[in-house]
Amino acid sequence: MGKKSIKDINVSGKRVLVRVDFNVPLDPKTRAIADDIRIRESLPTIKYLIDKKAKVILCSHLGRPKGRDKDSSLAPVAQRLSQLLGRDVAMADDCIGPEVEKQAAALKEGQVLLLENLRYHAEEEKNDPAFARSLARLADVFVNDAFGTAHRAHASTEGVSRYLPAVAGFLIQKELDVMGKALDNPDRPFAAVLGGAKISDKIAMLENILAKVDCLLVAGGMAATFLKAMKHETGKSLVENDKVDTAQQLMQKAAARKIRLLLPQDVVVADKFEAGAINRVVSVDKVPAGWYIMDIGPKTIDSFGAELRKSRTIIWNGPLGVFEFPEFRKGTESIASVLAGVKATTIIGGGSTAEAVQEMGLADKMTHVSTGGGASLTFLEGKPMPAIVALLDK
Ligand code: 3PG
Ligand code: MG
Repeated sequence: MGKKSIKDINVSGKRVLVRVDFNVPLDPKTRAIADDIRIRESLPTIKYLIDKKAKVILCSHLGRPKGRDKDSSLAPVAQRLSQLLGRDVAMADDCIGPEVEKQAAALKEGQVLLLENLRYHAEEEKNDPAFARSLARLADVFVNDAFGTAHRAHASTEGVSRYLPAVAGFLIQKELDVMGKALDNPDRPFAAVLGGAKISDKIAMLENILAKVDCLLVAGGMAATFLKAMKHETGKSLVENDKVDTAQQLMQKAAARKIRLLLPQDVVVADKFEAGAINRVVSVDKVPAGWYIMDIGPKTIDSFGAELRKSRTIIWNGPLGVFEFPEFRKGTESIASVLAGVKATTIIGGGSTAEAVQEMGLADKMTHVSTGGGASLTFLEGKPMPAIVALLDK
């Protein structure tokens, strides 16, 4: 990784500020934690610090509150973390200020304090230096383990690294090692499955990945723009007309580099963009005018599956159909099942792809499910991540 990690510094007896990504989904009605994977993935770092007798000060954002808002309190997270650790986790009422400084100073070795939502302060997202300094005052050392937020240059991710010795935690290390190995030195054949609604969100990733893979499988909403570039009827599907040329160029680049680019051969189309819509399978050159492409069809599932079974490394980012509607999740589910069964390194980008795999109970069957949505996209785009750049070099 080229950056210092938690094992490269002495943390014993020190006050350690740890940036974690506890931005977990909450049930809209009950505010209960709907998925605690991000909390569980932070445990190795927290347990290590407890073992080393550090004084552990955790900080995170939750949601996108505009100022103080009890619906975005991290209190439910403190409770869950306490259960998972089997020890008390104290909760501060704020993340900076004299009271919090007192609480941090009073911590005994091995004790854990969770600060309240960083985004109660607008200065956090503005990467305000005074706010970053206030956070730094709480501790002797900074550990960043918030992979999911590493693409953000915020006060608690990037700013604070200017005022404290700053190193990576185990989760950041794992995410960068696994995904870095896949991109830089993959076991081949190396395939990428890319989906998601819009090609414009994924162009940078497509460009970066195209230079590395042996095979690229493109589906999901963005496939419509490729199909349009091939002069197919795409009905009422979202086509980004200003990206049709880009799709054309990507196909030419793939051909020139002898990379197999697989697009859907058949698709599930529906008369309306909604759950329960009338639907049928058609060949890609038979999409009826006025209909929507909602999923990949059975032939595509077969050919994608065959390609993936030959691969030794697979990266998957983006659902392959309109996964929110039960009728149109078959493509995504089928490919998830294939990935769960292959003898290959399988890497699932975070966000909705990770959600799909988790909902199916297949997360354990994958080599790696990233805890970052936007962050894993940034990484796969090959772009620098400000919160990582800011850490001490090895
Ligand atoms: C995420 O879930 O994407 C990260 O926690 C970052 O949150 P943000 O997109 O609100 O910055
Ligand atoms: Mg995000």
